[in-house]
Amino acid sequence: MTRPFHATGVSIDTRTLQTGDLFVALATESGDGHAHVAAAMAKGAAGALVHRQHDMPEDAPLIVVGDTLVGLTALGAAARERFSGSVIAVTGSVGKTTTKEMLRAILSATGPTHAAVASYNNQWGVPLTLARTPPEADFCVVEIGMNHAGEIAPLSRLAGPDVAVITAVEPAHIGHLGSLEAIADEKASIAQGVLKGGTLVIPADGPMAPRLRAAARNLRVLTFGAENLLLVLEDCDGTDVTADIAGTQQAFRVGAPGRHMVMNAVAALTAASAVGADLQAGAQALAGFAPLGGRGTRRAILGGEAILLDESYNASSASVRAALAVLKLTPARRRIAVLGDMLELGAYSRAEHERLAEALRGSADLLYCCGHFMKFLYDATPADHRGAYAPDSEALGPHVARALRPGDAILVKGSLGSRMRVIVDALCNTSRGAG
Ligand SMILES: Nc1ncnc2c1ncn2[C@@H]1O[C@H](COP(=O)(O)OP(=O)(O)OP(=O)(O)O)[C@@H](O)[C@H]1O
Ligand SMILES: [Mg+2]
Repeated sequence: MTRPFHATGVSIDTRTLQTGDLFVALATESGDGHAHVAAAMAKGAAGALVHRQHDMPEDAPLIVVGDTLVGLTALGAAARERFSGSVIAVTGSVGKTTTKEMLRAILSATGPTHAAVASYNNQWGVPLTLARTPPEADFCVVEIGMNHAGEIAPLSRLAGPDVAVITAVEPAHIGHLGSLEAIADEKASIAQGVLKGGTLVIPADGPMAPRLRAAARNLRVLTFGAENLLLVLEDCDGTDVTADIAGTQQAFRVGAPGRHMVMNAVAALTAASAVGADLQAGAQALAGFAPLGGRGTRRAILGGEAILLDESYNASSASVRAALAVLKLTPARRRIAVLGDMLELGAYSRAEHERLAEALRGSADLLYCCGHFMKFLYDATPADHRGAYAPDSEALGPHVARALRPGDAILVKGSLGSRMRVIVDALCNTSRGAG
């Protein structure tokens, strides 16, 4: 029999565990938490949730369950039940984490707000976010993601959101789902978990809008899109916006550049309007919003004489277009795009890569590419715009570093699996005259 204990938080990772946390020993692809229970206890865990008892430190207070993921899900459900604030769930093909972080900023201007860490949006990320929600918070923002059909609805039911936001329907992970319609249906399945009388916030623009609206059934629907924008003044640091948010006019600045950030901001403000937040105060908080790591982070390189846009976190067609638009906004003598493969596009891979040629025209003077699929884009690019092609980022890095000149603005982007971070690191270590 384990002695009773009291936990003040929930952790699944000893590297970030806080004293007093309940350590949940999850078994995932990246490892088995049961091997880290001793380390968790040494770091001050109050106890551990486990489904295996052998090799456990003596005296460690344990809660033994059949499956720790099921246990964590039950914890999440219990936390949701006791929570009397508003829950907002965010899904979409791109912009989930950005919109979730904007909501954190917006809602914090009204009251205590709890939000998911990083992109914690899957079978363990959603229950973990819920389980950690302080009962006294006013708002909880969860991110819900998917790789395969059928994943969003159960997570939405667990979260029981008052408001759900679909940021965008775009061909990301389309390799797993097969069509844009299937992606729209999967995103729209978030509606199944929204509480009775709740609100679904959907993009008004794009061919899938009617499909999303139809899925809302008897929920209240709010839309966001170009129709909300009254005035937009873009620069390379951010955008001054005047927008109609749920019938009120809001003037604010978004501290991250690009039209895509404006759309995320309008989506977040629209969702915030549905939970009675102070929109004016919330909108002002967006001025301090900077791009998240690897999603447009701007760095001075070459001793301050060139600019790097670090987009190495991820890439899909929509986000590459968005990043190219920001590159275009960036003052420079020469603009360079360094692109690695967009993954998980299945049968759409070749066409989606080739189609970027149009967006490249007018945004980049030179293109450097790596990866199997980017070869198609490289070959579709006029010869005088081609920098170099290499099979992978390690091989491409030196070409890019050698080409770098004062006055350059250089965008580095690709799916995480394309490992474009290697090139970002190489460029950050390139000094003037390296070529
Ligand atoms: N509305 C948008 N339209 C196009 N691109 C966007 C939009 N919002 C963010 N992006 C870009 O998409 C990429 C991913 O952004 P973000 O992390 O916010 O999305 P996500 O949906 O949470 O991704 P993930 O599926 O990896 O969790 C970044 O490069 C970001 O700049
Ligand atoms: Mg995310």
